[in-house]
Amino acid sequence: MRTPIIAGNWKMNTTYDEAMDLVEELVDGLEGRDVEEIDIVLCPPALWLFPAAEYVEDTGLLLGAQNCHATDRGAFTGEISAAMLTDQCSYVIVGHSERRQHFGETDEIVAGKVAAALRHGLRPIVCVGEGLAERDAGATDAVIARQVSAAFAPVEDGHVAECVVAYEPIWAIGSGRAADGVEANRVAGLIRGTLGEQFGAARAAQIRIQYGGSVTDANIAEFIGQPEIDGALVGGASLKAETFIQLCTIAAGKAGA
Ligand code: 13P
Repeated sequence: MRTPIIAGNWKMNTTYDEAMDLVEELVDGLEGRDVEEIDIVLCPPALWLFPAAEYVEDTGLLLGAQNCHATDRGAFTGEISAAMLTDQCSYVIVGHSERRQHFGETDEIVAGKVAAALRHGLRPIVCVGEGLAERDAGATDAVIARQVSAAFAPVEDGHVAECVVAYEPIWAIGSGRAADGVEANRVAGLIRGTLGEQFGAARAAQIRIQYGGSVTDANIAEFIGQPEIDGALVGGASLKAETFIQLCTIAAGKAGA
């Protein structure tokens, strides 16, 4: 049985004050909401991880970073290594399409980050997803299979179950146009199948797969209800306390159902 996981990717949003207010509202709001059956991970900007850690201590809420570097230390100005994140975080997002698009992250770089995360006891949330042109060209399955195989190339069998995959079709991100639940489930199945080829079906069955792309409290039920989908990676809707709390509550309800 896979524990559902809802993660909020705040991206490059919030001032310090806004971030602390949001964490506090989430902690207060989620208390007593009966969400213990799911994992809830907040991924604020890296600067806010330290102060946020104090707020979430003993609440059950978990923290994740939005990125890490593949190496542990060295002359990489401005970068943050997985080793530096371990005190505050249990998760780290790697290979988000915005990193691939705007920061030139290749499949190889993403694989290095996955390895770094696991080396330091962080659970990677590995993002994969096709662009609109790729979808229109009928290349979705090939793109996803390539991204998944590459990202998991360095993963040893014993670490597979620690990994999360987020299927985020690029055209659905921030567009208000979420993927169809059945289609997202189909791609999640393809991801699991690809992982099954590498690690065997039993191992692949342990990996949690999220859907991401315009997820809100209004459509989370459509995704969490799919057999291959174990949660969501949420962008914009994770910045509104009430919406995110409601979204998590619905996900937990479905999980317990
Ligand atoms: P939105 O939920 O804003 O579409 O963002 C999705 C995303 O990129 C999460 O990583």
